[in-house]
Amino acid sequence: MNAQRKHSSQRRKSDSDLLDKIEHFIENHIEDKIKKGLDDVEDFLKREFRELRDKARGKNGDEGPFSYIEQFLRDKKVASVAPSTKFLVNKVLKRMDLRSAQTVIEYGPAEGVITRPILERLPSDGRVVAIELNPGFVATLRQQLASEPRLTVVEGSVTEVDKIVAPLGVPPADVIVSGIPFSFLSPLERHHLLHKTVDLLRPGGRFIAYQVTTHLVPLMKYHFQDVDVDFEVRNLPPHFVFTGYK
Ligand SMILES: C[S@@+](CC[C@H](N)C(=O)[O-])C[C@H]1O[C@@H](n2cnc3c(N)ncnc32)[C@H](O)[C@@H]1O
Repeated sequence: MNAQRKHSSQRRKSDSDLLDKIEHFIENHIEDKIKKGLDDVEDFLKREFRELRDKARGKNGDEGPFSYIEQFLRDKKVASVAPSTKFLVNKVLKRMDLRSAQTVIEYGPAEGVITRPILERLPSDGRVVAIELNPGFVATLRQQLASEPRLTVVEGSVTEVDKIVAPLGVPPADVIVSGIPFSFLSPLERHHLLHKTVDLLRPGGRFIAYQVTTHLVPLMKYHFQDVDVDFEVRNLPPHFVFTGYK
């Protein structure tokens, strides 16, 4: 092994040891605190939100930055109180490697915080299929990105992704990116969803999931040849980023 390869393999090993340590620390010391903290944020918003929103509402009645929080309070499956931060978005985008991608499928786009930069980077003949359960987010996304012919927004559950994608006639996906909370799916649903995800990817394609916990890792390792784990602390809450290579 030459010196450069040896160095990069040692670096990967020390990165992976560090991520293992972070994972154990979060699981043993702060996962419950994060959950409790988020429950407190939710309680606070339930008490204070409507008043704050009404004061800040634009003259035309639009919710502005509050529309995401409104959906979060109405719909448990939205799962996070705010869209991903630019730090998490950048980390996810870097993992996607969109330079030569043609087809991207997104699970749980919400208002499109990741959909927009994907479209900015995708070639003019690329396609993005975004599957979102929340009807409010679907309406916002369709309205705000109405002039984007490369984007198809489908209202539905990603558990049906095979049936949703089949009639669209898109080529096998280069990248599938997911912000959905896997913890809301049963173990069997998670397994079926990863199975369908692998089927939809081209050989060498990648699946990127950003999640609060590491519980998905063993299942990802079962379904993908290789799995990378990354971590972004500058997000509410901090998130892991898992990349599975087919
Ligand atoms: C944590 S938010 C992430 C939103 C956005 N991608 C971001 O990074 O800020 C999860 C999103 O997944 C959606 N979602 C949850 N379960 C879903 C499912 N089974 N199928 C499709 N979308 C789902 C929620 O409605 C929500 O928009």
